[in-house]
Amino acid sequence: MTAMTTKTKIKTAPFGITPDGEPVELHTLTNNSGMQLSLSSYGATITRLLVPDRDGKLADVALGFDSLSPYLTSKIYLGCTVGRFANRIAQGRFTLNGKTFRLARNDGTNSLHGGLKGFDKRVWKTRVMPGQTSVRFSLRSPDGEEGYPGNLDASVTFTLTDSNEVRISYQAKTDRPTVVSLTNHTYFNLTGAGRGDILNHVLCVRADRYTPADERLIPTGKILPVAGSALDFRKPAPVGARLRQAGGDPAGYDHNFVLKTSASGKPSLAATLTEPGSGRVMKVFTDQPGMQFYSGNFLDGKTVGKGAKAYQRHAGLCLETQRFPDAPNQSRFPSAVLRPGETYRTTTIFKFLSLPQARNNKNKRRND
Ligand code: GLA
Repeated sequence: MTAMTTKTKIKTAPFGITPDGEPVELHTLTNNSGMQLSLSSYGATITRLLVPDRDGKLADVALGFDSLSPYLTSKIYLGCTVGRFANRIAQGRFTLNGKTFRLARNDGTNSLHGGLKGFDKRVWKTRVMPGQTSVRFSLRSPDGEEGYPGNLDASVTFTLTDSNEVRISYQAKTDRPTVVSLTNHTYFNLTGAGRGDILNHVLCVRADRYTPADERLIPTGKILPVAGSALDFRKPAPVGARLRQAGGDPAGYDHNFVLKTSASGKPSLAATLTEPGSGRVMKVFTDQPGMQFYSGNFLDGKTVGKGAKAYQRHAGLCLETQRFPDAPNQSRFPSAVLRPGETYRTTTIFKFLSLPQARNNKNKRRND
């Protein structure tokens, strides 16, 4: 037998056991430049993401926990896959084909991020694709789970490429008409998780419009221009510069942008996040119509993450690509309905660069 020299790119280790006795695994993917992505089968969660800075120095840019047990009780959705429906559904209720469905309410009177036991609190089946740097998680959400109609078979595939991209592809099928919007809820801090806040990160979002929301964070149904508001990130701006103006209590961003989607339906650039200190840059590409920008306003220092670091307000920010919040109740928003025979399919890419590299790329494009 010839000796195989294939470099193992995925390593699997036990991560713990749930109170129901289900074993949970942790998969670590490593690419050619040493970037690492760790994924837990509990919640199909990104627990760790090592990314090089401008000097090639790695730091973990994803907030999370060192072990399984805090994930079991945490309610802040660190790194997880959110489903069946990302963000809020007003009054935990929607009507589809003349029938009203009542959902589990877990955010005042609203249903948030799938309800009391969303996809973030499930153990997903795992399939490791050896040599392909991909891990695929799948689950069945039974008809009526958290109030949602239809047996839903969902999967999410994470790929780490040698061009420093984390690609996340979601799929779902149903046997009754239902609503679906899956996203990833990683809190990024490009300085490194637990090393201060994200207020000096510079954000640029390819959106001219957003969906304003009321004080319960339910969209009013209007679609307004970002121009002249704290939501105007068409030119790069520091996240912390207009926090008060952004509103909210505690103040900060928790808003859905209306992205400029590409006509091809392929993922296109939605946002660029730059951390000037380390030189780390993250670009977000998606095929989704919306993106929730959440600046970690509800973090309050009570959650103690990896390396015993407490996550203070704005310790991380989320860029959650999604259907619009409350879409099932808003006829003017893009539909979030999935019918039998259809496949829900969507991809989001988080691509990491560093400042000098980003400049080179720009020059390259200009010379092309
Ligand atoms: C989302 C919401 C926020 C908050 C977080 C979880 O991003 O939009 O309002 O609920 O999840 O804490």
